Amino acid sequence: MTHSRIPGFYNLKLDERRARLADASGQSKDEFLPWTTGGLSADSADHMIENVIGMHALPLGIALNFLVNGREVLVPFAVEEPSVVAGASFMAKLARAGGGFFATSTEPQMIGQIQLINVANMSNARFKLYEHRQELLEIADEIDPILKKFGGGARDLEIRLIEQSPIGPFLVIHLIYDVRDAMGANAVNTACEKLAPRIESITGGKVHLRILSNLADRRIARARCTIPVNDLTMGFESFKGETVRDGIIAAYAFAASDPYRAATHNKGIMNGVDAVVVATGNDWRAIEAGAHAYAARTGRYTSLSTWGKDADGNLVGTLEMPMAVGIVGGATRVHPAAQAAVKLMGVKTANELAEIIVSVGLAQNMAALRALATEGIQRGHMSLHARQVAVAAGASGERIEKIAAQMVMEKVVRIDRAEEILKGLK
Ligand code: MEV
Repeated sequence: MTHSRIPGFYNLKLDERRARLADASGQSKDEFLPWTTGGLSADSADHMIENVIGMHALPLGIALNFLVNGREVLVPFAVEEPSVVAGASFMAKLARAGGGFFATSTEPQMIGQIQLINVANMSNARFKLYEHRQELLEIADEIDPILKKFGGGARDLEIRLIEQSPIGPFLVIHLIYDVRDAMGANAVNTACEKLAPRIESITGGKVHLRILSNLADRRIARARCTIPVNDLTMGFESFKGETVRDGIIAAYAFAASDPYRAATHNKGIMNGVDAVVVATGNDWRAIEAGAHAYAARTGRYTSLSTWGKDADGNLVGTLEMPMAVGIVGGATRVHPAAQAAVKLMGVKTANELAEIIVSVGLAQNMAALRALATEGIQRGHMSLHARQVAVAAGASGERIEKIAAQMVMEKVVRIDRAEEILKGLK
């Protein structure tokens, strides 16, 4: 049984962390080898993209304390930004008192788009396509027998009339496709291409683009958490719980009503979301595109999350966003480090992965808002930076923390000062 609380993990050496992770996850340390060797062989990399000359590495950290739908999860983050892993882990710890994260997800349905131009009579063509709905779905269904075997396949057709465009009106056919545990781009693109000739013969029009939409608004993941108001001050003891709570709610209000702030607020969510998406070999550009298009779905770009209080005055957060991630195809299957990530989280379906990721996004958002609404974001960043400076000055073990703490207190984070303090300690 995995447990996601590993006290003191932060202060351990890399090797000790791997040993503690093995204990906590019930896995052998060998499972983590892809993360110590970089994971991907040059040969595999050479088959993934073009003109390969090497590899590009990112740090891989483990976010702790996550409880998602009652299950303990150790979450791998591939990210270069300091504070992200620590922020998510800390907020996941606070969320545990309220039962952790409660997450749900829709059926894994993606949308494929087929653009139909040169149609003589739009309305006539639209109705004819609906009359052939069943036949078209059967054609689309044939493209992936394995997906079908696992319960996926074509689900529906929607015909949209785009009335105004730079080339005048045209039709768009949406093919709704259940992609189960795949991200789904390949299946959906293939199905759209397969449908094209029949759509042309039914309508007399010309099919132009045939491609998946990244606005995956039929593949939504949702997470909710409750933080007891008195726990909100942990680490910020000079503040009152109500002050921190109301500060977070006011910060949310800013993002809800101002696109300039919403972009940064949502970026904070994506700090956590992308870290897991990258660690699992998923397409983070697709997730980013979907998130921001969804945030603008009402015509005005806004916050993906909400923050408020419940009847007992506790802080309640929610996050809802498209989450087109897979666990079976593409880089997730080829990249050994992505495989290790999926295994560490113990996810068996793409939906489960989506639910963890959206919980991470909510935790990450709260970490940023709590810092911004209290002492500002720089304090946390400053201490991490100070640790790096202490290491650069030659400190090791417990001295790193001591030197960093002193520099932060003095508000002088410089290598010469770190060297001086180190000399004093010796
Ligand atoms: C920095 O990577 C993310 C934040 O800017 C997010 C936010 O402002 O909510 C701190």
